Amino acid sequence: MDKLDKEKYQQAGEIGRDVREWSKTLIKPGISFLDLANKIESRIAKLGAEIAFPVNICVNDITAHYAPGYRDESVIGANDVVTVDLGAHVDGFISDTAYTVDLSGKHKKMLKANQEALDAAIELVAPGVSVSEIGHRVQELIISAGYKPIENLTGHEIKQYDLHAGLSIPNIDVPYDRKIKKDMILAIEPFATNGLGRVIESPRTEIYSLIEPKSVRMNEARILLRELAERRKLPFAARWFTDKINPMRLELALRKMASMKILKTHPVLHEKEKGIVSQFEHTMIVTSSGCEVTTI
Ligand code: CO
Repeated sequence: MDKLDKEKYQQAGEIGRDVREWSKTLIKPGISFLDLANKIESRIAKLGAEIAFPVNICVNDITAHYAPGYRDESVIGANDVVTVDLGAHVDGFISDTAYTVDLSGKHKKMLKANQEALDAAIELVAPGVSVSEIGHRVQELIISAGYKPIENLTGHEIKQYDLHAGLSIPNIDVPYDRKIKKDMILAIEPFATNGLGRVIESPRTEIYSLIEPKSVRMNEARILLRELAERRKLPFAARWFTDKINPMRLELALRKMASMKILKTHPVLHEKEKGIVSQFEHTMIVTSSGCEVTTI
C-alpha cells in the first residue's frame, strides 16, 4: 500500500478512536440525540478529519441508520442500550468504529460476548482467510453466550471514498468462500441480540447517499447536488442541509431524488422481534501476516 495512503488511514483511525472514547463520556440519560450527534460530528472536524457518514445513534432494538432529524427532540433514557457508530475520513481514507453502552446494566453479558466476538474476528484476519471462517467464529461465540448475531448485517471492505466496497464480512457462517487479501481495509462489526437475529427496515430515513448525479429541475435538488459534490458517494444526513435549504423543500427534493435513483436511502433498521441489540466495530488494514487495527 502507498505509504501516504496508509498514513491517512492511520490518521482517520486515530481520530475515530479519539472521538469514540471521548463520546462515551456524553452518553447519559437526558442528553438529546441531536446534541450528541452534533457534538460527535463537530469533534471529528475539530480533530482534523471529515465526517465519513452521519453518526448513527441507535437505542435498544434500533440497530442501524438512526441519525437525528433537524428537529429531533428525543433524549437518551435511563435504561437505554445505546450504540454509537461513527466514521472519520482524511482525503477519503475512512475509519469506521462503533460501541454499545448499557445504561440499564441488564445486558452486560451480551455486550461482553459481542466484544469478544469482535476481538476473535480480528485475531483471525489475515491474507487467505475465508470470510466464512470469520462469520463462523462470530456466530459461535455469540450463540454460546446465549444470544444471536444479526445475520443480515455484515462488516465491509473500505476503499477511498467508498464505505461499502466489494467484500462483506458476515456475522454468521456463510456458504461461500471469499478470501481476505493483503492491503484490504476492513470494517468488522458483529451485532448481538436477545431477539431473532434479523433486522428489518422501518419507514423512517435520515441518511442518504449519492448514486449518480442527474439533471433535475427542482432548484433545491440542484443546490443539494452542488453541496454533495465533494463528498462523492459518502452518506449524508438530511439535517446537515437545513440551514441552506428550507426543510420542507429539502424533504421534497430528497424524495424526488430518491425516486429518480439519484440518491440511495438508508432507512432505519430495527430488530425484527424488538430484541435489544449491541454492536462493536473496528477498522483494520490487512498486513502480510494479520492486520493492523487503525481504531484501537
Ligand atoms: Co460503522
